[in-house]
Amino acid sequence: MEERSVSRLPFHNNDRNSRQVYNPGSLRGWAMGAEKGEQKSEENYTDFGFKKVPIADKASHVSRVFHSVAGRYDMMNDLMSGGIHRLWKHFTIEMSGVRAGQRVLDIAGGTGDLTAKFSRLVGLEGLVVLADINDSMLRVGRDKLLDSGTSGNVVFAQADAQYLPFPDNSFDCITIAFGLRNVTDKSLAIASMLRVLKPGGRLLVLEFSKPVSPALEKVYDFYSFRILPLMGKAVANDADSYRYLAESIRMHPDQETLKGMMEAAGFARCEYHNLTGGIVALHKGIKP
Ligand SMILES: C[S@@+](CC[C@H](N)C(=O)[O-])C[C@H]1O[C@@H](n2cnc3c(N)ncnc32)[C@H](O)[C@@H]1O
Repeated sequence: MEERSVSRLPFHNNDRNSRQVYNPGSLRGWAMGAEKGEQKSEENYTDFGFKKVPIADKASHVSRVFHSVAGRYDMMNDLMSGGIHRLWKHFTIEMSGVRAGQRVLDIAGGTGDLTAKFSRLVGLEGLVVLADINDSMLRVGRDKLLDSGTSGNVVFAQADAQYLPFPDNSFDCITIAFGLRNVTDKSLAIASMLRVLKPGGRLLVLEFSKPVSPALEKVYDFYSFRILPLMGKAVANDADSYRYLAESIRMHPDQETLKGMMEAAGFARCEYHNLTGGIVALHKGIKP
């Protein structure tokens, strides 16, 4: 079995680049702090769930969550969603229009559910890059894919969605599933994804969103804030990570706002599909 290494790709994807986290917000904060004697200002802070944290610290908070949940991520996903996440992912694949021979980037790909499906679709003439900022999640994903015989057309890259280490116009399709809400600067990530898509290429964002009915929202709130942390405590001994999950979902832009962000970045023909009453939405946009 051949595992293609990242270094053999035509991408300039060396380790130093893919780990690099340059955060203009944090630099601005640093400069302001230096000038003004460390005054705290709203604009230097961002959300981490319901908490406000310095912009520069959000990535490390998120990273702790995913290092902590990586080993049990797949099992908890099935448990918490009753297996429905598989249907949401199946729909994403259907909407992607990916064909044999194409190049796909699965960013924030984690344990590789979408990558495994894309690998079968693109065949040996195509290529799928499973990229994630978190090496624990990537390791679990890589082991799972290799154990299931998915190889030959998949490469793994540690990369930040905000600063994708790939040349312009590299991919026919990019997916980001349940990843965007964890990213510090979502507009920056959307712009980065636009840059590395080929003209005509598709971006698909699968993410928790806003339930369309108030009754469903009530039930969902009870489930998220009461049941989820208890499950996290009982099964993974980690209530905090699952509380963050619920909080980060509420802080994520709703359907129309995210569509507007994609349009503002330059995507064309932006649309979304509500799934399970809007608990999840799939957004799609095309690079003109
Ligand atoms: C909830 S998991 C989703 C994994 C997978 N896509 C799925 O649907 O099962 C979110 C993933 O986003 C990754 N992530 C968070 N911030 C990121 C960033 N700035 N760039 C790339 N990946 C990021 C996390 O490490 C984690 O693996």
